[in-house]
Amino acid sequence: MENLYKKVAETMINLKQCVALTGAGISEESGIPTFRDKGGLWGKYDPMVYASIDVFMKDPSKYWSLRDLFIKNYDDYKPNKAHYALKDLEEMEILRCVITQNIDGLHIKAGSKNVIEIHGSIREIFCLKCNKKYETPNIPDGIPPYCSCGGVLKPNTVLFGEELPPEAIMKAKHESMTCKIMLLIGTSAIVYPAASLPHLAQQNGAQIVEINIERAFPNADYYIEGKAGVVLPKIVDTIRTITIDR
Ligand code: OAD
Repeated sequence: MENLYKKVAETMINLKQCVALTGAGISEESGIPTFRDKGGLWGKYDPMVYASIDVFMKDPSKYWSLRDLFIKNYDDYKPNKAHYALKDLEEMEILRCVITQNIDGLHIKAGSKNVIEIHGSIREIFCLKCNKKYETPNIPDGIPPYCSCGGVLKPNTVLFGEELPPEAIMKAKHESMTCKIMLLIGTSAIVYPAASLPHLAQQNGAQIVEINIERAFPNADYYIEGKAGVVLPKIVDTIRTITIDR
């Protein structure tokens, strides 16, 4: 295991040009449930009912019945050691950017500067009628909540059946195609188009380092088994030790 950390750290120091693709697993240690693990959200709530754009447009109260889960605690969720480790890697000029599928805003809260939120963020809620913006958690009560103009409010997040924000996915593809290492962290890597990004990176010559409690991407060049909040700080420490010794 120590050798694996050393190998990964040395590869990251030598190649730099590293990009991270994160999923719900990185926020698990912040107390936010994942989607597909045992006890995950989609085991309790059918995403095609609670998180589909078609259902939302017909009956937004389904989605908003989960508002306490997503929005009420927004300010209480804090970044964990994994988010801070990615911020450190960016400051060390090894990590170019974080592409995240998460809507919790924790990479930004941790201080990462170059964050691409391909599924949007619950930071911002907007009115479907007049486009007025509201900042979480300061949004009107109600299931669903309504804007002062009477329109229904919707978070700026991607629901099933919706297009991803074009600029974000374009940037994410560009970063994936041009990086030399992709850290694949805490994602089941099955939801497209996000799941195509590691393949895109690999096809263009990048090495993939998977960090997960369970292997989800068998084609990874390196797999470090463990919680992101344990593994990532250890990678940062190993990089620091190697660079100090040089
Ligand atoms: P999933 O719930 O599908 O997968 C979570 C992954 O994190 C699994 O592979 C777990 O093994 C791993 N994991 C759990 N705890 C971990 C920890 N502490 N450290 C490291 N790994 C851990 O979540 P995503 O892959 O993010 O989309 O799901 C992708 C998309 O599906 C989400 O963005 C969301 C969902 O539907 C939208 O809402 C559009």
